[in-house]
Amino acid sequence: MKETKIACCLFILAVFTLLVTVSSSAAEEIEKLTGKKFAQLARGGVLYDNWLGELGVKIDKTHPSYPPAGQKKGAATWRCKECHGWDYKGKAGAYGTGSSFTGIVGIRAYANQNPEAILKTLKNDTHAFGSLMSDSDLEALALFVTYGQIDVDLYINRQTKKSIGDPANGGRIFLSTCIKCHGEDGKAINFKDEKSPEYMGTVANKNPWETLHKIRWGHPGSQMISLLFLGLKEQLDVLSFCQSLPEK
Ligand code: HEC
Ligand code: HEC
Repeated sequence: MKETKIACCLFILAVFTLLVTVSSSAAEEIEKLTGKKFAQLARGGVLYDNWLGELGVKIDKTHPSYPPAGQKKGAATWRCKECHGWDYKGKAGAYGTGSSFTGIVGIRAYANQNPEAILKTLKNDTHAFGSLMSDSDLEALALFVTYGQIDVDLYINRQTKKSIGDPANGGRIFLSTCIKCHGEDGKAINFKDEKSPEYMGTVANKNPWETLHKIRWGHPGSQMISLLFLGLKEQLDVLSFCQSLPEK
């Protein structure tokens, strides 16, 4: 009886260890990436957001794999995020409904997978990116898919959209870095227009998945910094602080 209990405990411990190892392996891999590989990973996140904007590429026609059910046209349909989402979950996430709905799957299944296989996926007929980006940029995207993406639902509440971070600690980071461009109250840059302005507080509460992506990777085609060198915990702290800023 006692032995069965011990065996049972050991089994549970083994499963638990396995789970912890799996969920933290991406973070460990990021720490292992140094020099050029780390730079490539950081670039991968920006390219996922908007590789056309980052590379200065102009395309007018709609991506051949963009489904007729979708509402977008032209350049927008070539962005990874447009088909796979800011939460990397495609139709299983925020893009399961609304103006960005396409019915396309997310990229979560490819987290911690072999970057070589992802590189092949990006060159396949569905994507056809092989002739549009350099191999180095495609590799950067593959590194992002493998090591850069995270399961946002562990950190951002799907219903309330609130980040689990600590706004006070996030404030220390925001008020010494982001402040230079976005101002103390996050209102120095209006992301939309005069009529319906959108500030840091607006976007962080409306689309926290996008804001977290920008916090971690930066904004394509701009001087905005990336906080990838910080741990996920601190990146979530910054998101929480952004959510505390005025929305109007
Ligand atoms: C026009 C829409 C579209 C765009 C843009 C797009 N993809 Fe995809 N992607 C798809 C479709 C559709 C699939 C599913 C393919 C299939 O069933 O073979 C897919 C599959 C994937 C997969 C495999 C996911 C899985 O579980 O099968 C990865 C990884 C991926 N895409 C990464 C990217 C990256 C990185 C970019 C940007 C460089 C990108 N995609 C841009 C449509 C798109
Ligand atoms: C060197 C200037 C600079 C710094 C520093 C900077 N940003 Fe930005 N950020 C920008 C610019 C420029 C844009 C694009 C503005 C636009 O689209 O009009 C931007 C865009 C954004 C967006 C996208 C908003 C949207 O919905 O389009 C977010 C979110 C953001 N920044 C958050 C931050 C956070 C958080 C920090 C601190 C970690 C930060 N930024 C630091 C310049 C900066």
